[in-house]
Amino acid sequence: MKRELVIVLDFGGQYNQLVARRVRECQVYCEIYSYKTDIEKIKEMNPMGIILTGGPSSCYEKDSATYSKELFELDIPVLGLCYGAQLMQHLLGGKVERASVREYGKSQLTVDNSSVLFSNVAKESVCWMSHFDYISKVADGFRITATTKDCPVAACENKEKNLYGIQFHPEVLHTQEGTKMIENFVKDVCHCHGDWRMDSFVEESIQDIRNKVGNGKVLCALSGGVDSSVAAVLLSKAIGNQLTCVFVDHGLLRKNEGDEVEAVFGEDGPYELNFIRVNAQQRYYDKLKGVTDPEKKRKIIGEEFIRVFEEEAKKIGAVDFLVQGTIYPDVVESGLGGESAVIKSHHNVGGLPDHVDFKEIIEPLRDLFKDEVRKVGLELGIPDYLVYRQPFPGPGLGIRIIGEVTAEKVRIVQDADAIYREEIANAGLDRSIGQYFAALTNMQSVGVMGDERTYDYAIALRAVNTIDFMTAEAAQIPYEVLNKVMSRIINEVRGVNRVFYDITSKPPGTIEFE
Ligand code: XMP
Repeated sequence: MKRELVIVLDFGGQYNQLVARRVRECQVYCEIYSYKTDIEKIKEMNPMGIILTGGPSSCYEKDSATYSKELFELDIPVLGLCYGAQLMQHLLGGKVERASVREYGKSQLTVDNSSVLFSNVAKESVCWMSHFDYISKVADGFRITATTKDCPVAACENKEKNLYGIQFHPEVLHTQEGTKMIENFVKDVCHCHGDWRMDSFVEESIQDIRNKVGNGKVLCALSGGVDSSVAAVLLSKAIGNQLTCVFVDHGLLRKNEGDEVEAVFGEDGPYELNFIRVNAQQRYYDKLKGVTDPEKKRKIIGEEFIRVFEEEAKKIGAVDFLVQGTIYPDVVESGLGGESAVIKSHHNVGGLPDHVDFKEIIEPLRDLFKDEVRKVGLELGIPDYLVYRQPFPGPGLGIRIIGEVTAEKVRIVQDADAIYREEIANAGLDRSIGQYFAALTNMQSVGVMGDERTYDYAIALRAVNTIDFMTAEAAQIPYEVLNKVMSRIINEVRGVNRVFYDITSKPPGTIEFE
């Protein structure tokens, strides 16, 4: 069965992935392509609709990002957003000019409800604007369908030709009615029914994996994180014991995490697969002895992972496929999909193993956004606590311990972190905070406990709210919760006599604490 497809043509805007996510929230499959994509390829894909994103250029300048006018004659509905709207007008004979002031932030929007884009949308609402240029005159055949105080053409359309332009950003949640507008475009202009569902994704993927793998052997590095867990379960459902998962316990996991992963994927768990747990804790502590530089620690941990994995792979012998837990944002950010390549090298812990004997890579989650991976996980019956696990860096606690890593320091940070997580959950905050954890500072200071003088470590608590992990704000955790965490850590974790709460935002800080 052919799936309905909407294409996002990326002109380098910062919200390109958000646009695609909003479309998928309407249950319509959506892919991102660079504006440099050949029109023949677009014709071949035969999408039900095309969305042009925002971008940093000015469309009237020489060498700015552009597209062939033919795009508007394919008889496929097109929606231009911000730069996309300006470009559409510029190419079709409208006028785009530099505004005297940049309009940035929230604006009061008035829409014409007779436009299909704005049906069932409040006449007055707040929208999110971010532009220097503005459309001063629409092209022939277009009419204006929305305005703000500073923007005479906040939206315009040529209904006969199915061409729509929106100057603001409906994909950003600050635009109160934005999701509805995107849904109107996808459902009522493009006439998509919405056939992108995670239950059918699971069924189709299982079938695809079976067809691809045949009787072959598959090897998967399982970290216990959401992506590799979901990939492993999907594969196990498709090919059972043809799958072997190697789980490396590097001794830098959170408290009890190794046992939790084993309980789900090991012999006593519900899935059919070969599970190998490698207890490499001591090996890592030996390698990390005396190393204090955070980048060196990352490198050692990443490289050692590859070595351990290779050794296990050697024992298994040649395999046909190696699983990668790649997800759609990785594809887009590595520059393969859209236009806005983001440099994210430190997140690839060590890269691919050199000495594993495999023929092909298999990436079952390559088309999914993170929230979709989670839905697939739930669909597959993976326990909630694994599906909603917060992000955990590949190098693990190794980068949450400042200075040298030792078994004793790992114990301290594991215990403190477990208390912190328990109290955050008790306060009902565990799903609302983006990422939170305890880190061990390398600072020791004098304290008193009972009648005793102590000289112990300080624990730092971190909690941030973030949309994309590129910027973040410290979360405002109620003081009583922090107080309780402090008191429990001091009383229950040997070796700690002070607790700090880190209120630094990113930038200038980073989320991790190293
Ligand atoms: P930073 O600390 O750079 O973190 O603000 C942003 C997000 O990335 C995670 N992170 C890592 N993930 N390997 C990973 O797999 C790493 O070396 C690494 N460093 C940071 C971090 O937990 C946060 O979610």
